[in-house]
Amino acid sequence: SNQPMIAPSILSADFARLATELDAVKGADWVHVDVMDAHFVPNLTLGLPVVESLLKATDIPLDCHLMIEDPDRWAIGYAEAGAHNVTVHAEAAHDPIKVAKDLRAAGAKAGLSIKPGTPFDQYVEVLKHYDTLLVMSVEPGFGGQKFITEVLEKARAARNLVDTGHLNLIVEIDGGINTATIEQAAEAGVDCFVAGSAVYGAEDPARAIEALRSQAAP
Ligand code: DX5
Ligand code: ZN
Repeated sequence: SNQPMIAPSILSADFARLATELDAVKGADWVHVDVMDAHFVPNLTLGLPVVESLLKATDIPLDCHLMIEDPDRWAIGYAEAGAHNVTVHAEAAHDPIKVAKDLRAAGAKAGLSIKPGTPFDQYVEVLKHYDTLLVMSVEPGFGGQKFITEVLEKARAARNLVDTGHLNLIVEIDGGINTATIEQAAEAGVDCFVAGSAVYGAEDPARAIEALRSQAAP
């Protein structure tokens, strides 16, 4: 892992002022967009029409995290719209290798996410087709939850396979990241850190990003 990447999650932003909220995080590497369908997770957020508008409102690459059922059908639309990275859930995808191929063919990076209870090992072959692995460190659905330390073992295993040349992935973590938890995640070899409440709950989101980045730096 090189320079730590910080991806603020607009789930904790003010949805009535999204363009302003994007301007508030100019130093972000990616902006993380949580798409929830009230089926894969017990919450509902936003979908493709909002993402299309966000793409017009910012130059920061969008990292779309699809917490939805049947991503085999819906994910490609986000890639075609211009999302930089589109992440689907391993638990939801019927044919994850085909999803990755579709996303890449549409010009996006392909991401695979695993929930806290989902083992990493069984996805190693599938991950050869992916660009990012999103390790969930809370149960997906809501911001502001407590970091689950146990998932770091999966980040470490992924880091190992990347460092030994078996996989070529950005290792990303999502959930409960703040200045206290980010250090252990960085030590486990995470490249990209999603943070919702730690950024948008802060007085100054831009400074919160820099605080996270320096805490994550080796
Ligand atoms: C949870 C989402 C996260 C969420 C993280 O399902 O995937 O991206 O925004 O929020 P915090 O950083 O507050 O845990
Ligand atoms: Zn997310």
